[in-house]
Amino acid sequence: LGLRHNLYLGTAVDMAALDDPADPRYRQIVGSEFSTVTAENVMKWESLEPTRGSYDWAAADELVTFARQHDQRVRGHVLAWQNQLPKWLTDGVADGSISNAQLRDLLHKHITDVVTHFRGKIWQWDVVNEAVSDPWDTPPTLHYKGFWAEHLGPDYIADAFRWARAADPKALLFYNDYNIEAFGSGDPANDKTQFVYDMAKGLLARGVPIDGIGSQGHLGTQYGNYDTLQVVAALKKFSALGLATAFTEVDVRSEVTEGMGSNEINPRLQASAANYHVLLQACLADRHCLSFTVWGFTDKHSWVPGTFTNEGLANIYDENYQPKRAYNVLRGDL
Ligand code: XIL
Repeated sequence: LGLRHNLYLGTAVDMAALDDPADPRYRQIVGSEFSTVTAENVMKWESLEPTRGSYDWAAADELVTFARQHDQRVRGHVLAWQNQLPKWLTDGVADGSISNAQLRDLLHKHITDVVTHFRGKIWQWDVVNEAVSDPWDTPPTLHYKGFWAEHLGPDYIADAFRWARAADPKALLFYNDYNIEAFGSGDPANDKTQFVYDMAKGLLARGVPIDGIGSQGHLGTQYGNYDTLQVVAALKKFSALGLATAFTEVDVRSEVTEGMGSNEINPRLQASAANYHVLLQACLADRHCLSFTVWGFTDKHSWVPGTFTNEGLANIYDENYQPKRAYNVLRGDL
């Protein structure tokens, strides 16, 4: 495949774990194994502006400082997303005290303030996250979904990119989503990739400053193995538009039950590693794929068990910080 080795390897960082003196391995691994970091939560709007008009930059600044001390690049996550919004904002919209025109001004101010605060320190910004529906949503026809599209219409996407560019002309501006990892073979499950491609093409045609597409990479072994060719095809589609790509939130979870033994666990770890391998090989095969970020690295601190009932084992280290096969995959040892 003509592998190259200048890829940035990253992880999402849980700041509580990073700062836990009883859990020193976490901090040590973040600092030594990765060349880029993403805030798992602390750059989201609810964390940065819990009370209207007063920002709390402390945790996010701490991560940026940590990254500089460890010679790491920072992916900024996230500017416009329908989740983890502050309550004052969603309540204000619900009770009518914030009009749609005011909401648009608030998003403009948010993006300007946040991107300006971190100007010069962020390599890639996830400007818009998860704006496109899935086939299981209503209606099943793919469409722009969520809080921002409902209140502002889909043009908030173009606005968000323009506002971010104005505040930090050097940061690379990404659209980030899930279920866009693969393309091809007429598989309707891949239609979202085409939708995001069409969106990006339309934005570029209008001169909107978008630089890249982030493919989250939250996979599950119960859905089988991704096909390397289809993943390469998705990346190539985006890069043919002149866009950079990145895997931004990779983890590969499995169904788990209490007291499962190694006979059941090992095949899951193997299947998980195989999917990490597919995404990594695809990224390595496309020089426009800039970085490969895992969404946490240890099962000890993973969003998976709290989000997906009876699922886990998603990360590259187990909960005792023992590296798994997926770790060797990322090392290039397998
Ligand atoms: C998740 C975090 O991992 C959790 O800690 C938090 O409770 C919810 O959000 N897609 C994204 C991420 O873009 O921001 C989400 O992170 C996971 C799905």
